[in-house]
Amino acid sequence: MPAGGTFDAWRVAARRAISHGIAPDHLDWTGGGGLFANRPLPPDDGPRQVLVPQGFVQLATSVIWHSEPARFALLYQALWRLDRHEGSPLSQADPLGRRLHLLAKNVGRDIHKMHAFVRFREVPNDGPRRRFAAWFEPEHNTLEPGSAFFAKRFADMDWMIATPRLTARFENGKLTFGPPAPRPDLPDDASEGLWATYFANIFNPARVKLDAMRSEMPKKYWKNLPETRLIPEMLKDAEARVQRMHAAGASQVRTGAAAISTRYRAAMPQLPNVSDTLPETLDQARTGAMACRKCPLCEAATQTVWGIGSDQAALMIVGEQPGDQEDLVGRPFVGPAGQLLSAVMMAADIGADKVWLTNAVKHFKFTPQRKQRLHVTPDRTEIDKCRWWLGLELAFIRPKVTLALGATAAFALTGNDAPLSGRRGKVEQGFHEEPVLISWHPAYILRLTDPVVQNRARDELTEDLRAAFGLAQGPKAFG
Ligand code: URA
Repeated sequence: MPAGGTFDAWRVAARRAISHGIAPDHLDWTGGGGLFANRPLPPDDGPRQVLVPQGFVQLATSVIWHSEPARFALLYQALWRLDRHEGSPLSQADPLGRRLHLLAKNVGRDIHKMHAFVRFREVPNDGPRRRFAAWFEPEHNTLEPGSAFFAKRFADMDWMIATPRLTARFENGKLTFGPPAPRPDLPDDASEGLWATYFANIFNPARVKLDAMRSEMPKKYWKNLPETRLIPEMLKDAEARVQRMHAAGASQVRTGAAAISTRYRAAMPQLPNVSDTLPETLDQARTGAMACRKCPLCEAATQTVWGIGSDQAALMIVGEQPGDQEDLVGRPFVGPAGQLLSAVMMAADIGADKVWLTNAVKHFKFTPQRKQRLHVTPDRTEIDKCRWWLGLELAFIRPKVTLALGATAAFALTGNDAPLSGRRGKVEQGFHEEPVLISWHPAYILRLTDPVVQNRARDELTEDLRAAFGLAQGPKAFG
């Protein structure tokens, strides 16, 4: 089989073989192209057209990328049996079907890992487009099926991903595959320091489960990830850090804070414990967040408020934390600040289905006063703890641009805690190495008492939303 276009090549060979009625045990796929008694396959398809269920094509387009040498032969066996109506070779109840589904699952996981762990570095370029390169070592032949994702996300720049078996190149909007290139000599990236700090901050030594970590993020990926280079050092210090955390004790939950939540919480389903492993999907991340106990805020809040919107969004909007109403409803931005945000989004002509809307902190922090729960700004520790979840939302959704509403979101995303007055409307580099546009928080705008100042701030937020959305859609590189 060729290094690229493998599925199409296999399909042509398999169709030809089956239309001539060549049985699986007369075919030898180990040379790659489907040889018959050391002779090539017949030059053309036979007289018979072969029809297969859609499920087979789907399964085959995944299995084909596995590194298992028998994959071509196994697929041909399934095709042969389908053609002859021999049992259900695609069913999990059939040993062949089970094996094929397992191979497909491994491929899916490998593609997912590539999307999560490829790290691009900028390389010099004479032309107008920025150029990036990455080195990656997938377990299977997943560069080809996995690259469309990067082509969509990084359509406005040129890049290459080199792997030991194949190289993907994206130049002037065209994706091509070629023979393996030598491992590129990649420059150090200035943003590695940010990643490393980020990773060190979210690293919780009390929760380290090395086996789980190794199985979810095999060590071979660690060496190409700037953040994970810190792991050995951090592990050395882990025990001491746990002791220090115990000595410091958890912050106390304020008395009376729980009253209103207890009522609502009672109606909530029992949630599983937070998983220590890296989630594989956005949905798994959400399930983990729903059971989060990383900081004391979960004690008084009703529930975790996870993000909403399109998981394909090129624009993510990040607020501070859920408010009173969001805490009860379980959705971000449904209260007064949310109404202002909706109005501004409408004015900017941005549908809610075009963005991912979330918060830097996923639990409502408040202080009870009579029957009310008054908003309290989350502190640094809470923001740092919750960055784990925000980081996962960013990692799975991979927005091209993120709009930070207010100082908490701006700090959570960039680590910069300077006042917003000089930063609003400007783009900063996020921890996740993507642009973050800074704007006002709608609740801040609502609190402004001078109508002229308030209108101006509202206009600025609208302008920032438009700019962020434009950047997220636009083809132009930006820096
Ligand atoms: N304020 C926020 O920052 N987020 C919400 O979800 C609601 C109000």
